[in-house]
Amino acid sequence: MNVPLRRMPRVSLATVDQLGAPQLRTLVLRGANKHDGTVELHTDAASQKVPQLENDPRAAVLIWDETAMIQIRLMGDITIKSDASLSNIWDQLPSVTQGNYGVMPPPGSKIAAGDNYSRKADAGKFAILELKIQTMDLVQLQEPSHRRALYDQSDNWGGQWLAP
Ligand SMILES: Cc1cc2nc3c(=O)[nH]c(=O)nc-3n(C[C@H](O)[C@H](O)[C@H](O)COP(=O)(O)O)c2cc1C
Repeated sequence: MNVPLRRMPRVSLATVDQLGAPQLRTLVLRGANKHDGTVELHTDAASQKVPQLENDPRAAVLIWDETAMIQIRLMGDITIKSDASLSNIWDQLPSVTQGNYGVMPPPGSKIAAGDNYSRKADAGKFAILELKIQTMDLVQLQEPSHRRALYDQSDNWGGQWLAP
């Protein structure tokens, strides 16, 4: 996606940290594959969400589509990809985007001042997070009555209406 960050779709990614506490942050939605039932996010392999997901792959992605007035909650396990096989994808990223992967010291490190860090593009720090969707919970706001439905992979995506 070669669109300005301001116009890129953003999602909230929830993980479980090593103490069992929920952790949330905003990420850019980089891709979705309806055939595989996956969602793709990109991150710095040294960021704290990566060891959290290595410890517990369960994750949730939250999307709010203001135009369609639909909230989408995606639940499943995340697979972390971070190896030489990503070089084709890395090479296609704009250099400004590559600079997001390779922050030193690593994301979340204490620093003496707000700008006391460097951004040096590092292909070795580029990681793809692939969420394999197991459950989708959709809420559509509409009048006179809102709608909510649950879709489950184990039920072959057969939908179930829920009270909103
Ligand atoms: C609008 C916006 C977009 C962001 N996009 C990403 C992204 O695509 N990937 C990413 O790793 N972090 C992104 N961030 C930063 C994360 O929200 C988060 O601060 C960072 O990844 C560190 O999270 P962690 O310490 O939980 O790993 C974005 C932040 C904002 C405000």
